[in-house]
Amino acid sequence: MSNAAEQPLSHASNSVGAESAKEESISRRAFTTALFTGIGLCYAGAIGYPIYRYLASPIQKSMEAAKVSEVRLPDAEKLEPGAALLFKFGTKPGILIHHKDNTWSAMEAVCTHMACTVQYQPDLNRLFCACHGGVYDVKTGSALSGPPPKPLKTFKVEVGEGGVTVSKV
Ligand code: FES
Repeated sequence: MSNAAEQPLSHASNSVGAESAKEESISRRAFTTALFTGIGLCYAGAIGYPIYRYLASPIQKSMEAAKVSEVRLPDAEKLEPGAALLFKFGTKPGILIHHKDNTWSAMEAVCTHMACTVQYQPDLNRLFCACHGGVYDVKTGSALSGPPPKPLKTFKVEVGEGGVTVSKV
């Protein structure tokens, strides 16, 4: 009699134990899944973010560079006549020239043929591209000889005390 009375209890106890074990198993599984998902997301972020930054930065830089419309060159007014100064206009090199007649000019120092950087040659009074022998006018940036198909892009120059301001035309 006492056995019969105990059996349902024992059965109930087993049933509760099984339920508890099942819940514990599900809970452990859910925890493990959440843990591995979290670790996976951390790895994805750790690997993916630098790749995103690497790929996005040139685009971002070129977009920011395109917004540059003016560059201030401190102390550039002290440049001797017959001398030139290379500077950065956005992402591209620019060249500021103080001519011997005391006039100034500035242009993008990027050859219009295949984008080599041009050099100022004061003795020949010209801008020269050493890549394929392109020659440009020092004041107007016009292509004078060689393969360059177009003139150099020119900038507006304002000389003041404490510096020179070069801006897009
Ligand atoms: S890149 Fe300048 S002449 Fe060809």
